[in-house]
Amino acid sequence: MASDLMTKTPGRAREAVCPAEFAGWLSTPLRRLITHPERILGDLVGPGDTAADLGCGPGFFTLPLAEMVGDEGSVLAVDLQQAMLDRVGTRAEQRGLASRVRLHRCEAGSLGLDGERADFALAFWMVHEVPDQWRLFRETRELLRSGSRLLLVEPKGHVVKAAFAQTIAAAEAAGFRAVGRPRITLSHSVLLECV
Ligand SMILES: C[S@@+](CC[C@H](N)C(=O)[O-])C[C@H]1O[C@@H](n2cnc3c(N)ncnc32)[C@H](O)[C@@H]1O
Repeated sequence: MASDLMTKTPGRAREAVCPAEFAGWLSTPLRRLITHPERILGDLVGPGDTAADLGCGPGFFTLPLAEMVGDEGSVLAVDLQQAMLDRVGTRAEQRGLASRVRLHRCEAGSLGLDGERADFALAFWMVHEVPDQWRLFRETRELLRSGSRLLLVEPKGHVVKAAFAQTIAAAEAAGFRAVGRPRITLSHSVLLECV
């Protein structure tokens, strides 16, 4: 079992990567009717923090995070698709938040964030698209400062309960422990803390 968790996505095939053509759906204001970034993240991020938005897409969470961290903080927006990062950059410029947002293009197999440090990480509807979950969690563990937290959220439409349990097990094997199960519409979610 442990060896399974430390290799590829356990027990199932990886989902295809969400195409950049879907970016409009992910950032439509209508999404806020059911998903409230401030309500979900408000207790987890504060002024001066460095927050990492892993698989940020077009920035539905990146921009609210940039508001929350304030002028002294920053948001590391990470995605493997340049088209997604371009949208985040444009939207951050439009809202006067560009100085707080750093865009980072990664590879599918690695975040490539050596040397970076963060106080919080978000992985919202992205982990099921990642080929090696254990490696993702291990790299996220290295990114986060001691005692920091990772909010992991997966879509119920793509990820069955058993697969989400395996994802949590992979995170635990990589150095996290579950400390909460926030309720988020249409999603499985777990709040993880660095061990
Ligand atoms: C369904 S979208 C969700 C975007 C955003 N988190 C949101 O909730 O609006 C998944 C995003 O994860 C990105 N992604 C997929 N695999 C990734 C990987 N291995 N590393 C970084 N980003 C990845 C995709 O490019 C896509 O932008």
